[in-house]
Amino acid sequence: MNKVSNAGKIWGEFYKNKKIDWVRYDKKDSRYFEDLIKSDYGKILIQCINFLGKDEDIKILEAGCGVGEMAISLSMNYNVKAFDYNKEALKICNKLNNILCKKVVLYIDDLLDLKVEKEKYNFIYNQAVLEYFTHEEKIICIKNLKKILEEEGIIVFVCQNTNSTYNNNDFINQPNVYNCNIDYVKKLFIENNFEILFYDGLYTSKVFTNFLLPKYMNENIKYYVWKIMDFLYFPSFIRRKYNLQFVVCAKILK
Ligand SMILES: C[S@@+](CC[C@H](N)C(=O)[O-])C[C@H]1O[C@@H](n2cnc3c(N)ncnc32)[C@H](O)[C@@H]1O
Repeated sequence: MNKVSNAGKIWGEFYKNKKIDWVRYDKKDSRYFEDLIKSDYGKILIQCINFLGKDEDIKILEAGCGVGEMAISLSMNYNVKAFDYNKEALKICNKLNNILCKKVVLYIDDLLDLKVEKEKYNFIYNQAVLEYFTHEEKIICIKNLKKILEEEGIIVFVCQNTNSTYNNNDFINQPNVYNCNIDYVKKLFIENNFEILFYDGLYTSKVFTNFLLPKYMNENIKYYVWKIMDFLYFPSFIRRKYNLQFVVCAKILK
C-alpha cells in the first residue's frame, strides 16, 4: 500500500530527535500512573472498558501506543499489550514500563500493514493516531483492527478534532493532520459494521498546554505548565465547547 501520510515514519523523527518534552521517565513513579488512570482520559477509558460487562479475561491492546503511558496505567488492573510503528518510542515505553515491573507486553507493528494477527483482543484503543492518517488509511486502520478484535469487542479512538475552530494545525510542531471530527469518526465506524456506544469531547491537559503555549516555548516551561494544568479540573461543558479532542467508542456488530 502507498502510505500517503507516512505518519509512522514522521513520528519516528520526533522520537529520534527527542522532541517529546512530556516524557521524563526519571521523574515518574507508580503514583504518576495511578494519577493518570484517574484523569479524564483514564476515567473515560475505564467507562468504555466497562461496556464489555465482564471483569475477567479482558485483553486490552493499545495500537499506536507511542511511549505508552496509558497502557502502563491500565496494566495495573488489566492484561495489556501495546504496539507502535517506532522502536524508538517503544524503547522509551520500556523504560517507563520498568517502573511497574514491565507489565505491558510491547511489540512493533504497523496499523496500516498489520503483521501480528494471531491474538485477539476484547478492547483496542489509541490516542492521537487516527488524525494523522488520510481517509483511505483510516479505513484500512479500522479494517485491520477489526481482524484482531474478539466477537463483540470494543474499539475506542481518542482523536484531535482537526475541524475545531479552536484548533490551529500549527499549535504544536506536529506532522500533517487530516479531516477528523466526532461525526466523521462515528460514520467511519458505522460504515464498517460497528455500533456506537459512547462519544464525547475530551480536553486533556497536554493538549491544553500545547494550545496555550507557542511551539518555540522552552520545553521545561511547557512541562511545568502542563503539570499545573494537570491539577485543574475542566468541567465537561468546557470540554464540549472547545472540543479540541474527542473520544468515540464502538462495538463490533456480529
Ligand atoms: C501523537 S503520537 C501518540 C502516541 C500515544 N498514543 C500518546 O497518546 O501519547 C502518534 C503515534 O502513532 C504512531 N503511529 C503512526 N503511524 C503508525 C502506524 N502506521 N502503525 C502504528 N503506529 C503508528 C507513531 O509512531 C506515534 O507513536
